[in-house]
Formats: sequence, C-alpha cells, structure tokens
Amino acid sequence: MSFMKPDAADVTNPRFRPWAKIASPTANLAQTTWDLKQREEVQARNEKYWLDKGHTPIPREIFEKHPKIWLEIGSGTGGYFLDLAKKNPEAHLIAIERCKIRSGRMIQKFVKSQLTNIQGFRGNAIPALITGIPSESVERIYILYPCPWPKNAHRKNRWYLHTVMPHLIRILKPGGFVIWASDQEFYIREATFVSETRYSLKTILSGEVIPNEWNQLVEFPNGRTSFEAKFFSANHPCFELISQKL
Ligand SMILES: C[S@@+](CC[C@H](N)C(=O)[O-])C[C@H]1O[C@@H](n2cnc3c(N)ncnc32)[C@H](O)[C@@H]1O
Repeated sequence: MSFMKPDAADVTNPRFRPWAKIASPTANLAQTTWDLKQREEVQARNEKYWLDKGHTPIPREIFEKHPKIWLEIGSGTGGYFLDLAKKNPEAHLIAIERCKIRSGRMIQKFVKSQLTNIQGFRGNAIPALITGIPSESVERIYILYPCPWPKNAHRKNRWYLHTVMPHLIRILKPGGFVIWASDQEFYIREATFVSETRYSLKTILSGEVIPNEWNQLVEFPNGRTSFEAKFFSANHPCFELISQKL
C-alpha cells in the first residue's frame, strides 16, 4: 500500500483539507464534567500498567538534586527551553520529547550549548509522570501546543483528561505553575475548566496569547516554539492558560 502526501493540488480534495479549514470543536464543559467522573477506574488500571512495567525515561535523582526544576512535556526540538535555560541560570530545565527525530535534534542542541542547567530526554512523558517524578519537586510545567485531539472519540488523550493529569498536579510544588498554549481555543477553555474545578488550581491567566509578563513574548516576537511560530506566521490566533497550585 502506498501513502499519498498532500500537496498544493490536493487542497480541493476534502481528504486533504488544510488544518485551518477543518472546523474545530467548541469547549464542551458538560461533557468534560461527565468525562472526569468516569476517570477513576481507568486511572487505577493505567497506573498499574506503568508501575508493573517499572520504566521511567527520566532518572528520579535529578528531581531530588535540583531545587528549582522547570519541566517541558512534548518539547519538540527544544529551542524555547534552550533560550529559557540561558536566561534563567538559577533554574534546572528538563525537556522530554517522544519523537525520535525531534528529540535527537533537541539533545544535539542542548549538548552543543554546553549549558549545565538543561537536560533533554527522549521518551514517553506518561511513565515519567506516573512513576518517575517525586511529589512536589517541580516548579513549572510547560505544555506548549500539544496535539489537541479534536475528535470527540479521542478526547481522553487530551492532557487534562488523561490519567497523567493527577500526577502533573502531584509533582508540582505548592505555588508552582502549569503553563499551557494551544492554537485551539476549546482546548484552553476545557483545560481551564478542569484545572479550576477538578484540581482547584488558581487561574492566573486564560485567553488569547498576547505579550504579557508570563509569556515574555516581547522577547520572542516570532513565537516561542516552532509550532507557535507557524501559527503566528499564518495569523492563526493562539491561546494560553497559566494555572497555579495553591
Ligand atoms: C504539536 S508538537 C509541539 C512541539 C513543541 N512544543 C512546539 O510547540 O513546537 C507536540 C509534541 O509533543 C510530543 N508528544 C506527544 N505525546 C508525548 C508523550 N507522551 N511524551 C513525550 N512527548 C510527547 C510529540 O512528539 C510532539 O513533538
């Protein structure tokens, strides 16, 4: 079987509509509430699976050694975290990326920089979050432009509905932040709703990405990450959420 790569000529074919033309869902908070009620049994099963496997891609000792850790999940090629590491030498930055090619580029960049306050890992963030990261050990968690899983049938994969979400909150220090960005407004609205109602996080900021003291976009006018840069150059609005654990 051969796979056809869409090109400019294919845009009239509905199978290859560019992403911007595919209607994105609106936030469905009633359904999200229902989803959260169903999670408990799945939660236990999923955790047991990863605990039995007993593998975590990030060594636990790193979290015990450094007092000020910032973690990026799905970091792509790691450019944004490298800039943050340069600007924040007092913090220790850890990036995890599952894709072999992107994580390879990221690790190469980090090694070349010779910075000692940044580490990149190739692997799945799910076992890392469930089994490998001590409680209350991370000051900031960045989830920037994750796959939004817009199809209703796939919504359990959205990070805020995923079984790792309680672990994201568990590993966060009191006063710590979860920093989200997405090109999908529904994703940020639902993430805000879940963070507030289920996890009692305080919303510091939720809305369209515009320069502010949190995202320091003034220093990244073309976008902080490669996905953000793509959306900015296409004039596609982006959205962000900054939540704090009280
Ligand atoms: C849409 S890209 C965004 C990359 C980057 N944050 C940016 O803004 O340019 C989402 C990234 O998350 C990674 N990812 C998805 N699920 C992951 C997981 N379970 N563990 C680690 N990385 C994951 C993907 O491989 C992909 O590189």
